[in-house]
Amino acid sequence: MVRRLIIAAVIGLFTLFVAATVLMAYRWHAAHRPPEQPIAFSHRLHAGKLNLQCQFCHEYADKSPRAGVPAVSTCMSCHKAVATNSPEVQKLHEYWENEEPVPWNRVYSLRVRKYVVFAHKRHVKADLDCTDCHGEVRLMDRVRRVSSLNMGWCVTCHRSRSASTDCLTCHK
Ligand code: HEC
Ligand code: HEC
Ligand code: HEC
Ligand code: HEC
Ligand code: HEC
Repeated sequence: MVRRLIIAAVIGLFTLFVAATVLMAYRWHAAHRPPEQPIAFSHRLHAGKLNLQCQFCHEYADKSPRAGVPAVSTCMSCHKAVATNSPEVQKLHEYWENEEPVPWNRVYSLRVRKYVVFAHKRHVKADLDCTDCHGEVRLMDRVRRVSSLNMGWCVTCHRSRSASTDCLTCHK
């Protein structure tokens, strides 16, 4: 009787453990899976093969808190003429004609932005590379998140590069 109870308890705990592991793996995967985008834009093609510089499109990275995403007109500087038969580029033309921005889905976003001070400008001016925080975007068709963006991630790098780890540096 006691033995059967122990066996049942062990099986129960094991099942719970497996379920928790699966759930955690699923949540990790969901957080790191690249989101669907309204147009199949590829960094591997544009930043890799065509070798366009990151700041050609993310022009505010060294000037303001946000790196920003490019205006439709930046894309149209080429795509008025390039690949106009492609259905994906035709979607771009539609946004252009309707004078609407492309509703890109965010990949990197601080969870509690309100309480955290983060600015691209300061980091980019300090000679950090985009890859230090975003990985090899040049090799990605769809951008996926490679950093946790949690406090430990910020503080670990600050410590290793002798940047401030004072609470009030990042929290106001
Ligand atoms: C400097 C010029 C240039 C700029 C700027 C540019 N592209 Fe492109 N794009 C190209 C070239 C060249 C190709 C490859 C065309 C081909 O394979 O025939 C391409 C291919 C594409 C394709 C794939 C077309 C297909 O179906 O094969 C899409 C989608 C696309 N671009 C979207 C964009 C978007 C969105 C932007 C702005 C964020 C943008 N492009 C900015 C030059 C540019
Ligand atoms: C031709 C324009 C273009 C170039 C060049 C370009 N990007 Fe982008 N980038 C975009 C567009 C459009 C998006 C939004 C759609 C997406 O996520 O793919 C984007 C999104 C991103 C994102 C995700 C933003 C978010 O939603 O959180 C990162 C990170 C990024 N780019 C980094 C880079 C880096 C690093 C380079 C240089 C290696 C680069 N980009 C070059 C157009 C460009
Ligand atoms: C020190 C780390 C770090 C570096 C270096 C960095 N980024 Fe970011 N990036 C972030 C963080 C953190 C976010 C999310 C910010 C938020 O939620 O407000 C982000 C967001 C973005 C976004 C989404 C739109 C926006 O502006 O919030 C783009 C695009 C982007 N980064 C591109 C770049 C490019 C291009 C470079 C290189 C010129 C670069 N980043 C360098 C950490 C970094
Ligand atoms: C890959 C390394 C790296 C990561 C990751 C990083 N930082 Fe930094 N950060 C630096 C460096 C280096 C400096 C010092 C820049 C300078 O000397 O001007 C800095 C400076 C800063 C400053 C300005 C400090 C001051 O004295 O005013 C703030 C604010 C800041 N970081 C916030 C953040 C936040 C918030 C995150 C996480 C979301 C983060 N950083 C992630 C490397 C990093
Ligand atoms: C280099 C930047 C940086 C420094 C220094 C820093 N933090 Fe943070 N902190 C963050 C970021 C980024 C987040 C948001 C994390 C997230 O969105 O998951 C955060 C989140 C928090 C939270 C909220 C946690 C939550 O889950 O909502 C608290 C509380 C906090 N920090 C306290 C502190 C204290 C106390 C210090 C000083 C010992 C400190 N932080 C120093 C960047 C920093």
